[in-house]
Amino acid sequence: MDTHISEFSRDLGVGERAFLVKARANEIRAQGHDVIELEIGEPDFTTPRNVREAIKSAIDAGMTHYEIVPGNKRFREVIAAYVGRTRKIDVSPDEILVTGGAKSAIFYSLLTVVKPGGFVMMPDPTYPVYKSVVQGIGALAAKIPLKEENNFRLDIPEFRSMFNTKSGFLSSVLIFCSPQNPTGGIFAKADLEVIAEEAKEREIIVIADEIYSRLLYGVEHESIMSIPGAAERTVMIDGFSKTYAMTGLRLGYAVVKDKEIYNAMKKIAGNDQSCVSACLQQGGIEALTGPQDAVDEMRSEFEKRKRVIVAGLNTIPGIHCNDPVGAFYVFPNVQGLMEKKGFEKADQLADALLETAYVAGLSGTAFGSYGEGHMRFSYANSIENIEKAVERIRKFGAM
Ligand SMILES: Cc1ncc(COP(=O)(O)O)c(C=O)c1O
Repeated sequence: MDTHISEFSRDLGVGERAFLVKARANEIRAQGHDVIELEIGEPDFTTPRNVREAIKSAIDAGMTHYEIVPGNKRFREVIAAYVGRTRKIDVSPDEILVTGGAKSAIFYSLLTVVKPGGFVMMPDPTYPVYKSVVQGIGALAAKIPLKEENNFRLDIPEFRSMFNTKSGFLSSVLIFCSPQNPTGGIFAKADLEVIAEEAKEREIIVIADEIYSRLLYGVEHESIMSIPGAAERTVMIDGFSKTYAMTGLRLGYAVVKDKEIYNAMKKIAGNDQSCVSACLQQGGIEALTGPQDAVDEMRSEFEKRKRVIVAGLNTIPGIHCNDPVGAFYVFPNVQGLMEKKGFEKADQLADALLETAYVAGLSGTAFGSYGEGHMRFSYANSIENIEKAVERIRKFGAM
């Protein structure tokens, strides 16, 4: 035996490059440079006071012990009512699995339904953890290309034609997020209807990551769960990190109507997390049942920042930035700027911006090969910093 590493650990991808870039940004800052961080998807707001108070009171009330694996009964009732209301479906608390962040729900669901040697359809570019875990399991990604000229919506004819290819035909699972990371685009209702139709016809399990469902600007959230007949074959994932600025608290959930899948995911959760912190689940109850003013304020602040970053980037020669409708990312086309600087890859541009202009962003290829020619900037930062970053990029481009 030449290695102690399992095939799973060997093949698992690095996941989110944002954490690596963040570490590098910290090093550069430690050398005395003022780095503007637009790489990580983390709201810069404080967790709402009522949620913090609920968690603190729960600790004082002794909620520092184990909870049952799927989650506190009352919390699951609250989540079921919330999902039922927002997705216009019937949901039972027994269909909810509370997890340590949406990421754990992604992990448990993929471990449950993906088989080694299989194929999993997923958009490209998309949240990199999907492919990372699929690879770890020994399966392959069947890429659904998302294009700027299509506003990163599903290209319906192209999607349908994928089923004539080996990877599409053999796919038994499809995972996507909408609103999307990294593009800020969405799958519209018509796109979701096609996914639901093909999934039913081909007996595909759909994993719908809706973590950005409350961060939309001027459009309503559309969930595949609302399409008749789709909920039964869907694992829907949502969480508290983005909506309630709770990234470090680690709270999310999966909604699973298929009992076999639900029980399998619960078994994995029981072997892994045992339960999510009991006091934190009380914070989750408060988040969903308490006042929503903080959520509305954060969203309207994000919308202002979005206008600033989109307008600013579009004034820089060699950059074209679509106006995204969701999440807190822009995914500008930077091909012109790359050519001007003699870069063939967006990776080179991202590195140069960080190392010489002290602006941390991510190369579009951190989200898949179709992200080439793009960068992702998170606008979860102050308007002042966004404006400063835009000026630094402009200066860098002009040099
Ligand atoms: C699409 C998507 N899903 C899931 C997550 C992870 O969320 P959580 O913090 O709840 O694990 C992220 C975080 O960036 C994300 O962008």
